[in-house]
Amino acid sequence: MAYSARIGPSILSSDLSCLGSECVRMMECGADYLHLDVMDGHFVPNLTFGHPMVECLRKSVGRDPFFDMHMMVSRPEQWVKPMAAAGANQYTFHIEATTNPGNLIKEIRESGMKVGLAIKPGTTVEELAPWANQIDMALVMTVEPGFGGQKFMEDMMPKVSWLRSQFPSLDIEVDGGVGPDTIHKCAEAGANMIVSGSAVISSDDPRSVIALLRTVVAEAIQKRSLDR
Ligand code: DX5
Ligand code: ZN
Repeated sequence: MAYSARIGPSILSSDLSCLGSECVRMMECGADYLHLDVMDGHFVPNLTFGHPMVECLRKSVGRDPFFDMHMMVSRPEQWVKPMAAAGANQYTFHIEATTNPGNLIKEIRESGMKVGLAIKPGTTVEELAPWANQIDMALVMTVEPGFGGQKFMEDMMPKVSWLRSQFPSLDIEVDGGVGPDTIHKCAEAGANMIVSGSAVISSDDPRSVIALLRTVVAEAIQKRSLDR
């Protein structure tokens, strides 16, 4: 089995005035990577931060933490080079935001980053499928992108199951409303990269929440490998 269970806290719901220390806190609590939500107020009705913030964060947390940039922006082509220079490791863009995914995938790779491809709840998985062999990770959104703390959309799980059946070694990420109450659905469907914002950040014991999420996913991966 080529993929493993990885948990990436989304720091969107943390105290944004302390982003550096919040990222360090999440890594110390056992996070496998950090999921950083970039919003431009156009592709989604909310605004967060851009590459200057990522550059500062990289300096603050050191070279090791893996930065998965969730680019909820129109014209994702525009930020590939600045994000790579700022220290991003993976550039996850939305298929709805570009007319030329193939070219963008190529540009991201040439910049030295991994490639993630995201779909909103209203986008079918068939639209993502033609690119699945060229990307490192598929992101199936389980809320409408734009805000943390929304309700998990269980009806997105067939997309995850279908992707897992078609692309057995692809990294598949879920994002939105994922926490201890919803992780079993994600794990059973075949997701292995788990974004969790409010459930981790606002917990009194983020270390236990991260460990729980990882255990549920790891057990599902193991079960799937035994069933094969
Ligand atoms: C929403 C973002 C998510 C969000 C997740 O548009 O992409 O990463 O922060 O937060 P929760 O887990 O609280 O839904
Ligand atoms: Zn996100």
